[in-house]
Amino acid sequence: MPGTITKNEPPPKIPVDFKISPEDESIKNIKNILVVISGKGGVGKTTVAVNLAVELSNKGLNVGLIDADIHGPDIPQMLGLIDDKPYPDEDNKIIPVRYNNNLRVISIEYFLPSRDTPVVWRGALKHKMIEQFIKDVKWDPLDYLIFDLPPGTGDEPLSIIQLIPKINGFIIVGTPQEVAMLDVKKAINFAKQLKVPIVGLIENMSEFVCPHCGKVTYIFNKGSGERISKEYGINFLGSIPLEPTVVEDGDEGTPFTLAHPESRSAVSFRGIVEKIIKISSGNTGS
Ligand SMILES: Nc1ncnc2c1ncn2[C@@H]1O[C@H](COP(=O)(O)OP(=O)(O)O)[C@@H](O)[C@H]1O
Ligand SMILES: [Mg+2]
Repeated sequence: MPGTITKNEPPPKIPVDFKISPEDESIKNIKNILVVISGKGGVGKTTVAVNLAVELSNKGLNVGLIDADIHGPDIPQMLGLIDDKPYPDEDNKIIPVRYNNNLRVISIEYFLPSRDTPVVWRGALKHKMIEQFIKDVKWDPLDYLIFDLPPGTGDEPLSIIQLIPKINGFIIVGTPQEVAMLDVKKAINFAKQLKVPIVGLIENMSEFVCPHCGKVTYIFNKGSGERISKEYGINFLGSIPLEPTVVEDGDEGTPFTLAHPESRSAVSFRGIVEKIIKISSGNTGS
């Protein structure tokens, strides 16, 4: 089992025979696989994953969302699905939780005895869980399967790369502070070393929008996401402002793109979704 990448070390060898065959029932009907990743925590990965999944599903696309953040599974909370449960079908496959007609969700949260139980697992067990979330869950034919990950470039993204033969790419999320962007660079290099395509970078919490007067303030560095994207030759997908309604909506379990569709964040986010669809449009079959 390869460990995390450290500076000056060669990338870990990926045992290709671990991979699920492209013809395997579990993945052969999945057109696009996107992985939301970041260098650090709290930058908005889950917020992006949830809103992306909902936006795509509302366009009539079939979407699966896998909460692979084993230590902080927030997707059920952010989608208001905390009281739901997946259930087994007659073949003992897991039927994921339904958010709407087109979106299904699975999370480790559903398999824990209580909401405050921590998961204490080493890499091999995490790998097994990710494999089960792909192979043992009954995903209908999907236009998009989206993974939400824990922070950093550790076991979980490595397992996904090991297991899945065709990943459209990483969506890297970062905030504009200089230290946060250092971690974004690590995530970009991680993808490049492992030869995983990068769909692009999203700069989250870019400017602050005052909820009272609407005045815009650049609290952190302005434009650093765009600058880094240029420097590393990757797509800049867009920025999402720091807006109080985003937190409130997330806590209440309604994606901000649905709760506040006219907010700056939602308008900006829809532009990001269009870019993601365009970049992966060769695979939507539409
Ligand atoms: N653009 C934003 N404006 C305001 N709050 C945000 C924004 N994006 C995310 N948040 C909030 O920041 C916190 C961390 O976001 P989250 O998506 O859980 O990050 P991660 O998954 O990277 O740890 C959450 O409370 C979320 O609602
Ligand atoms: Mg998260």
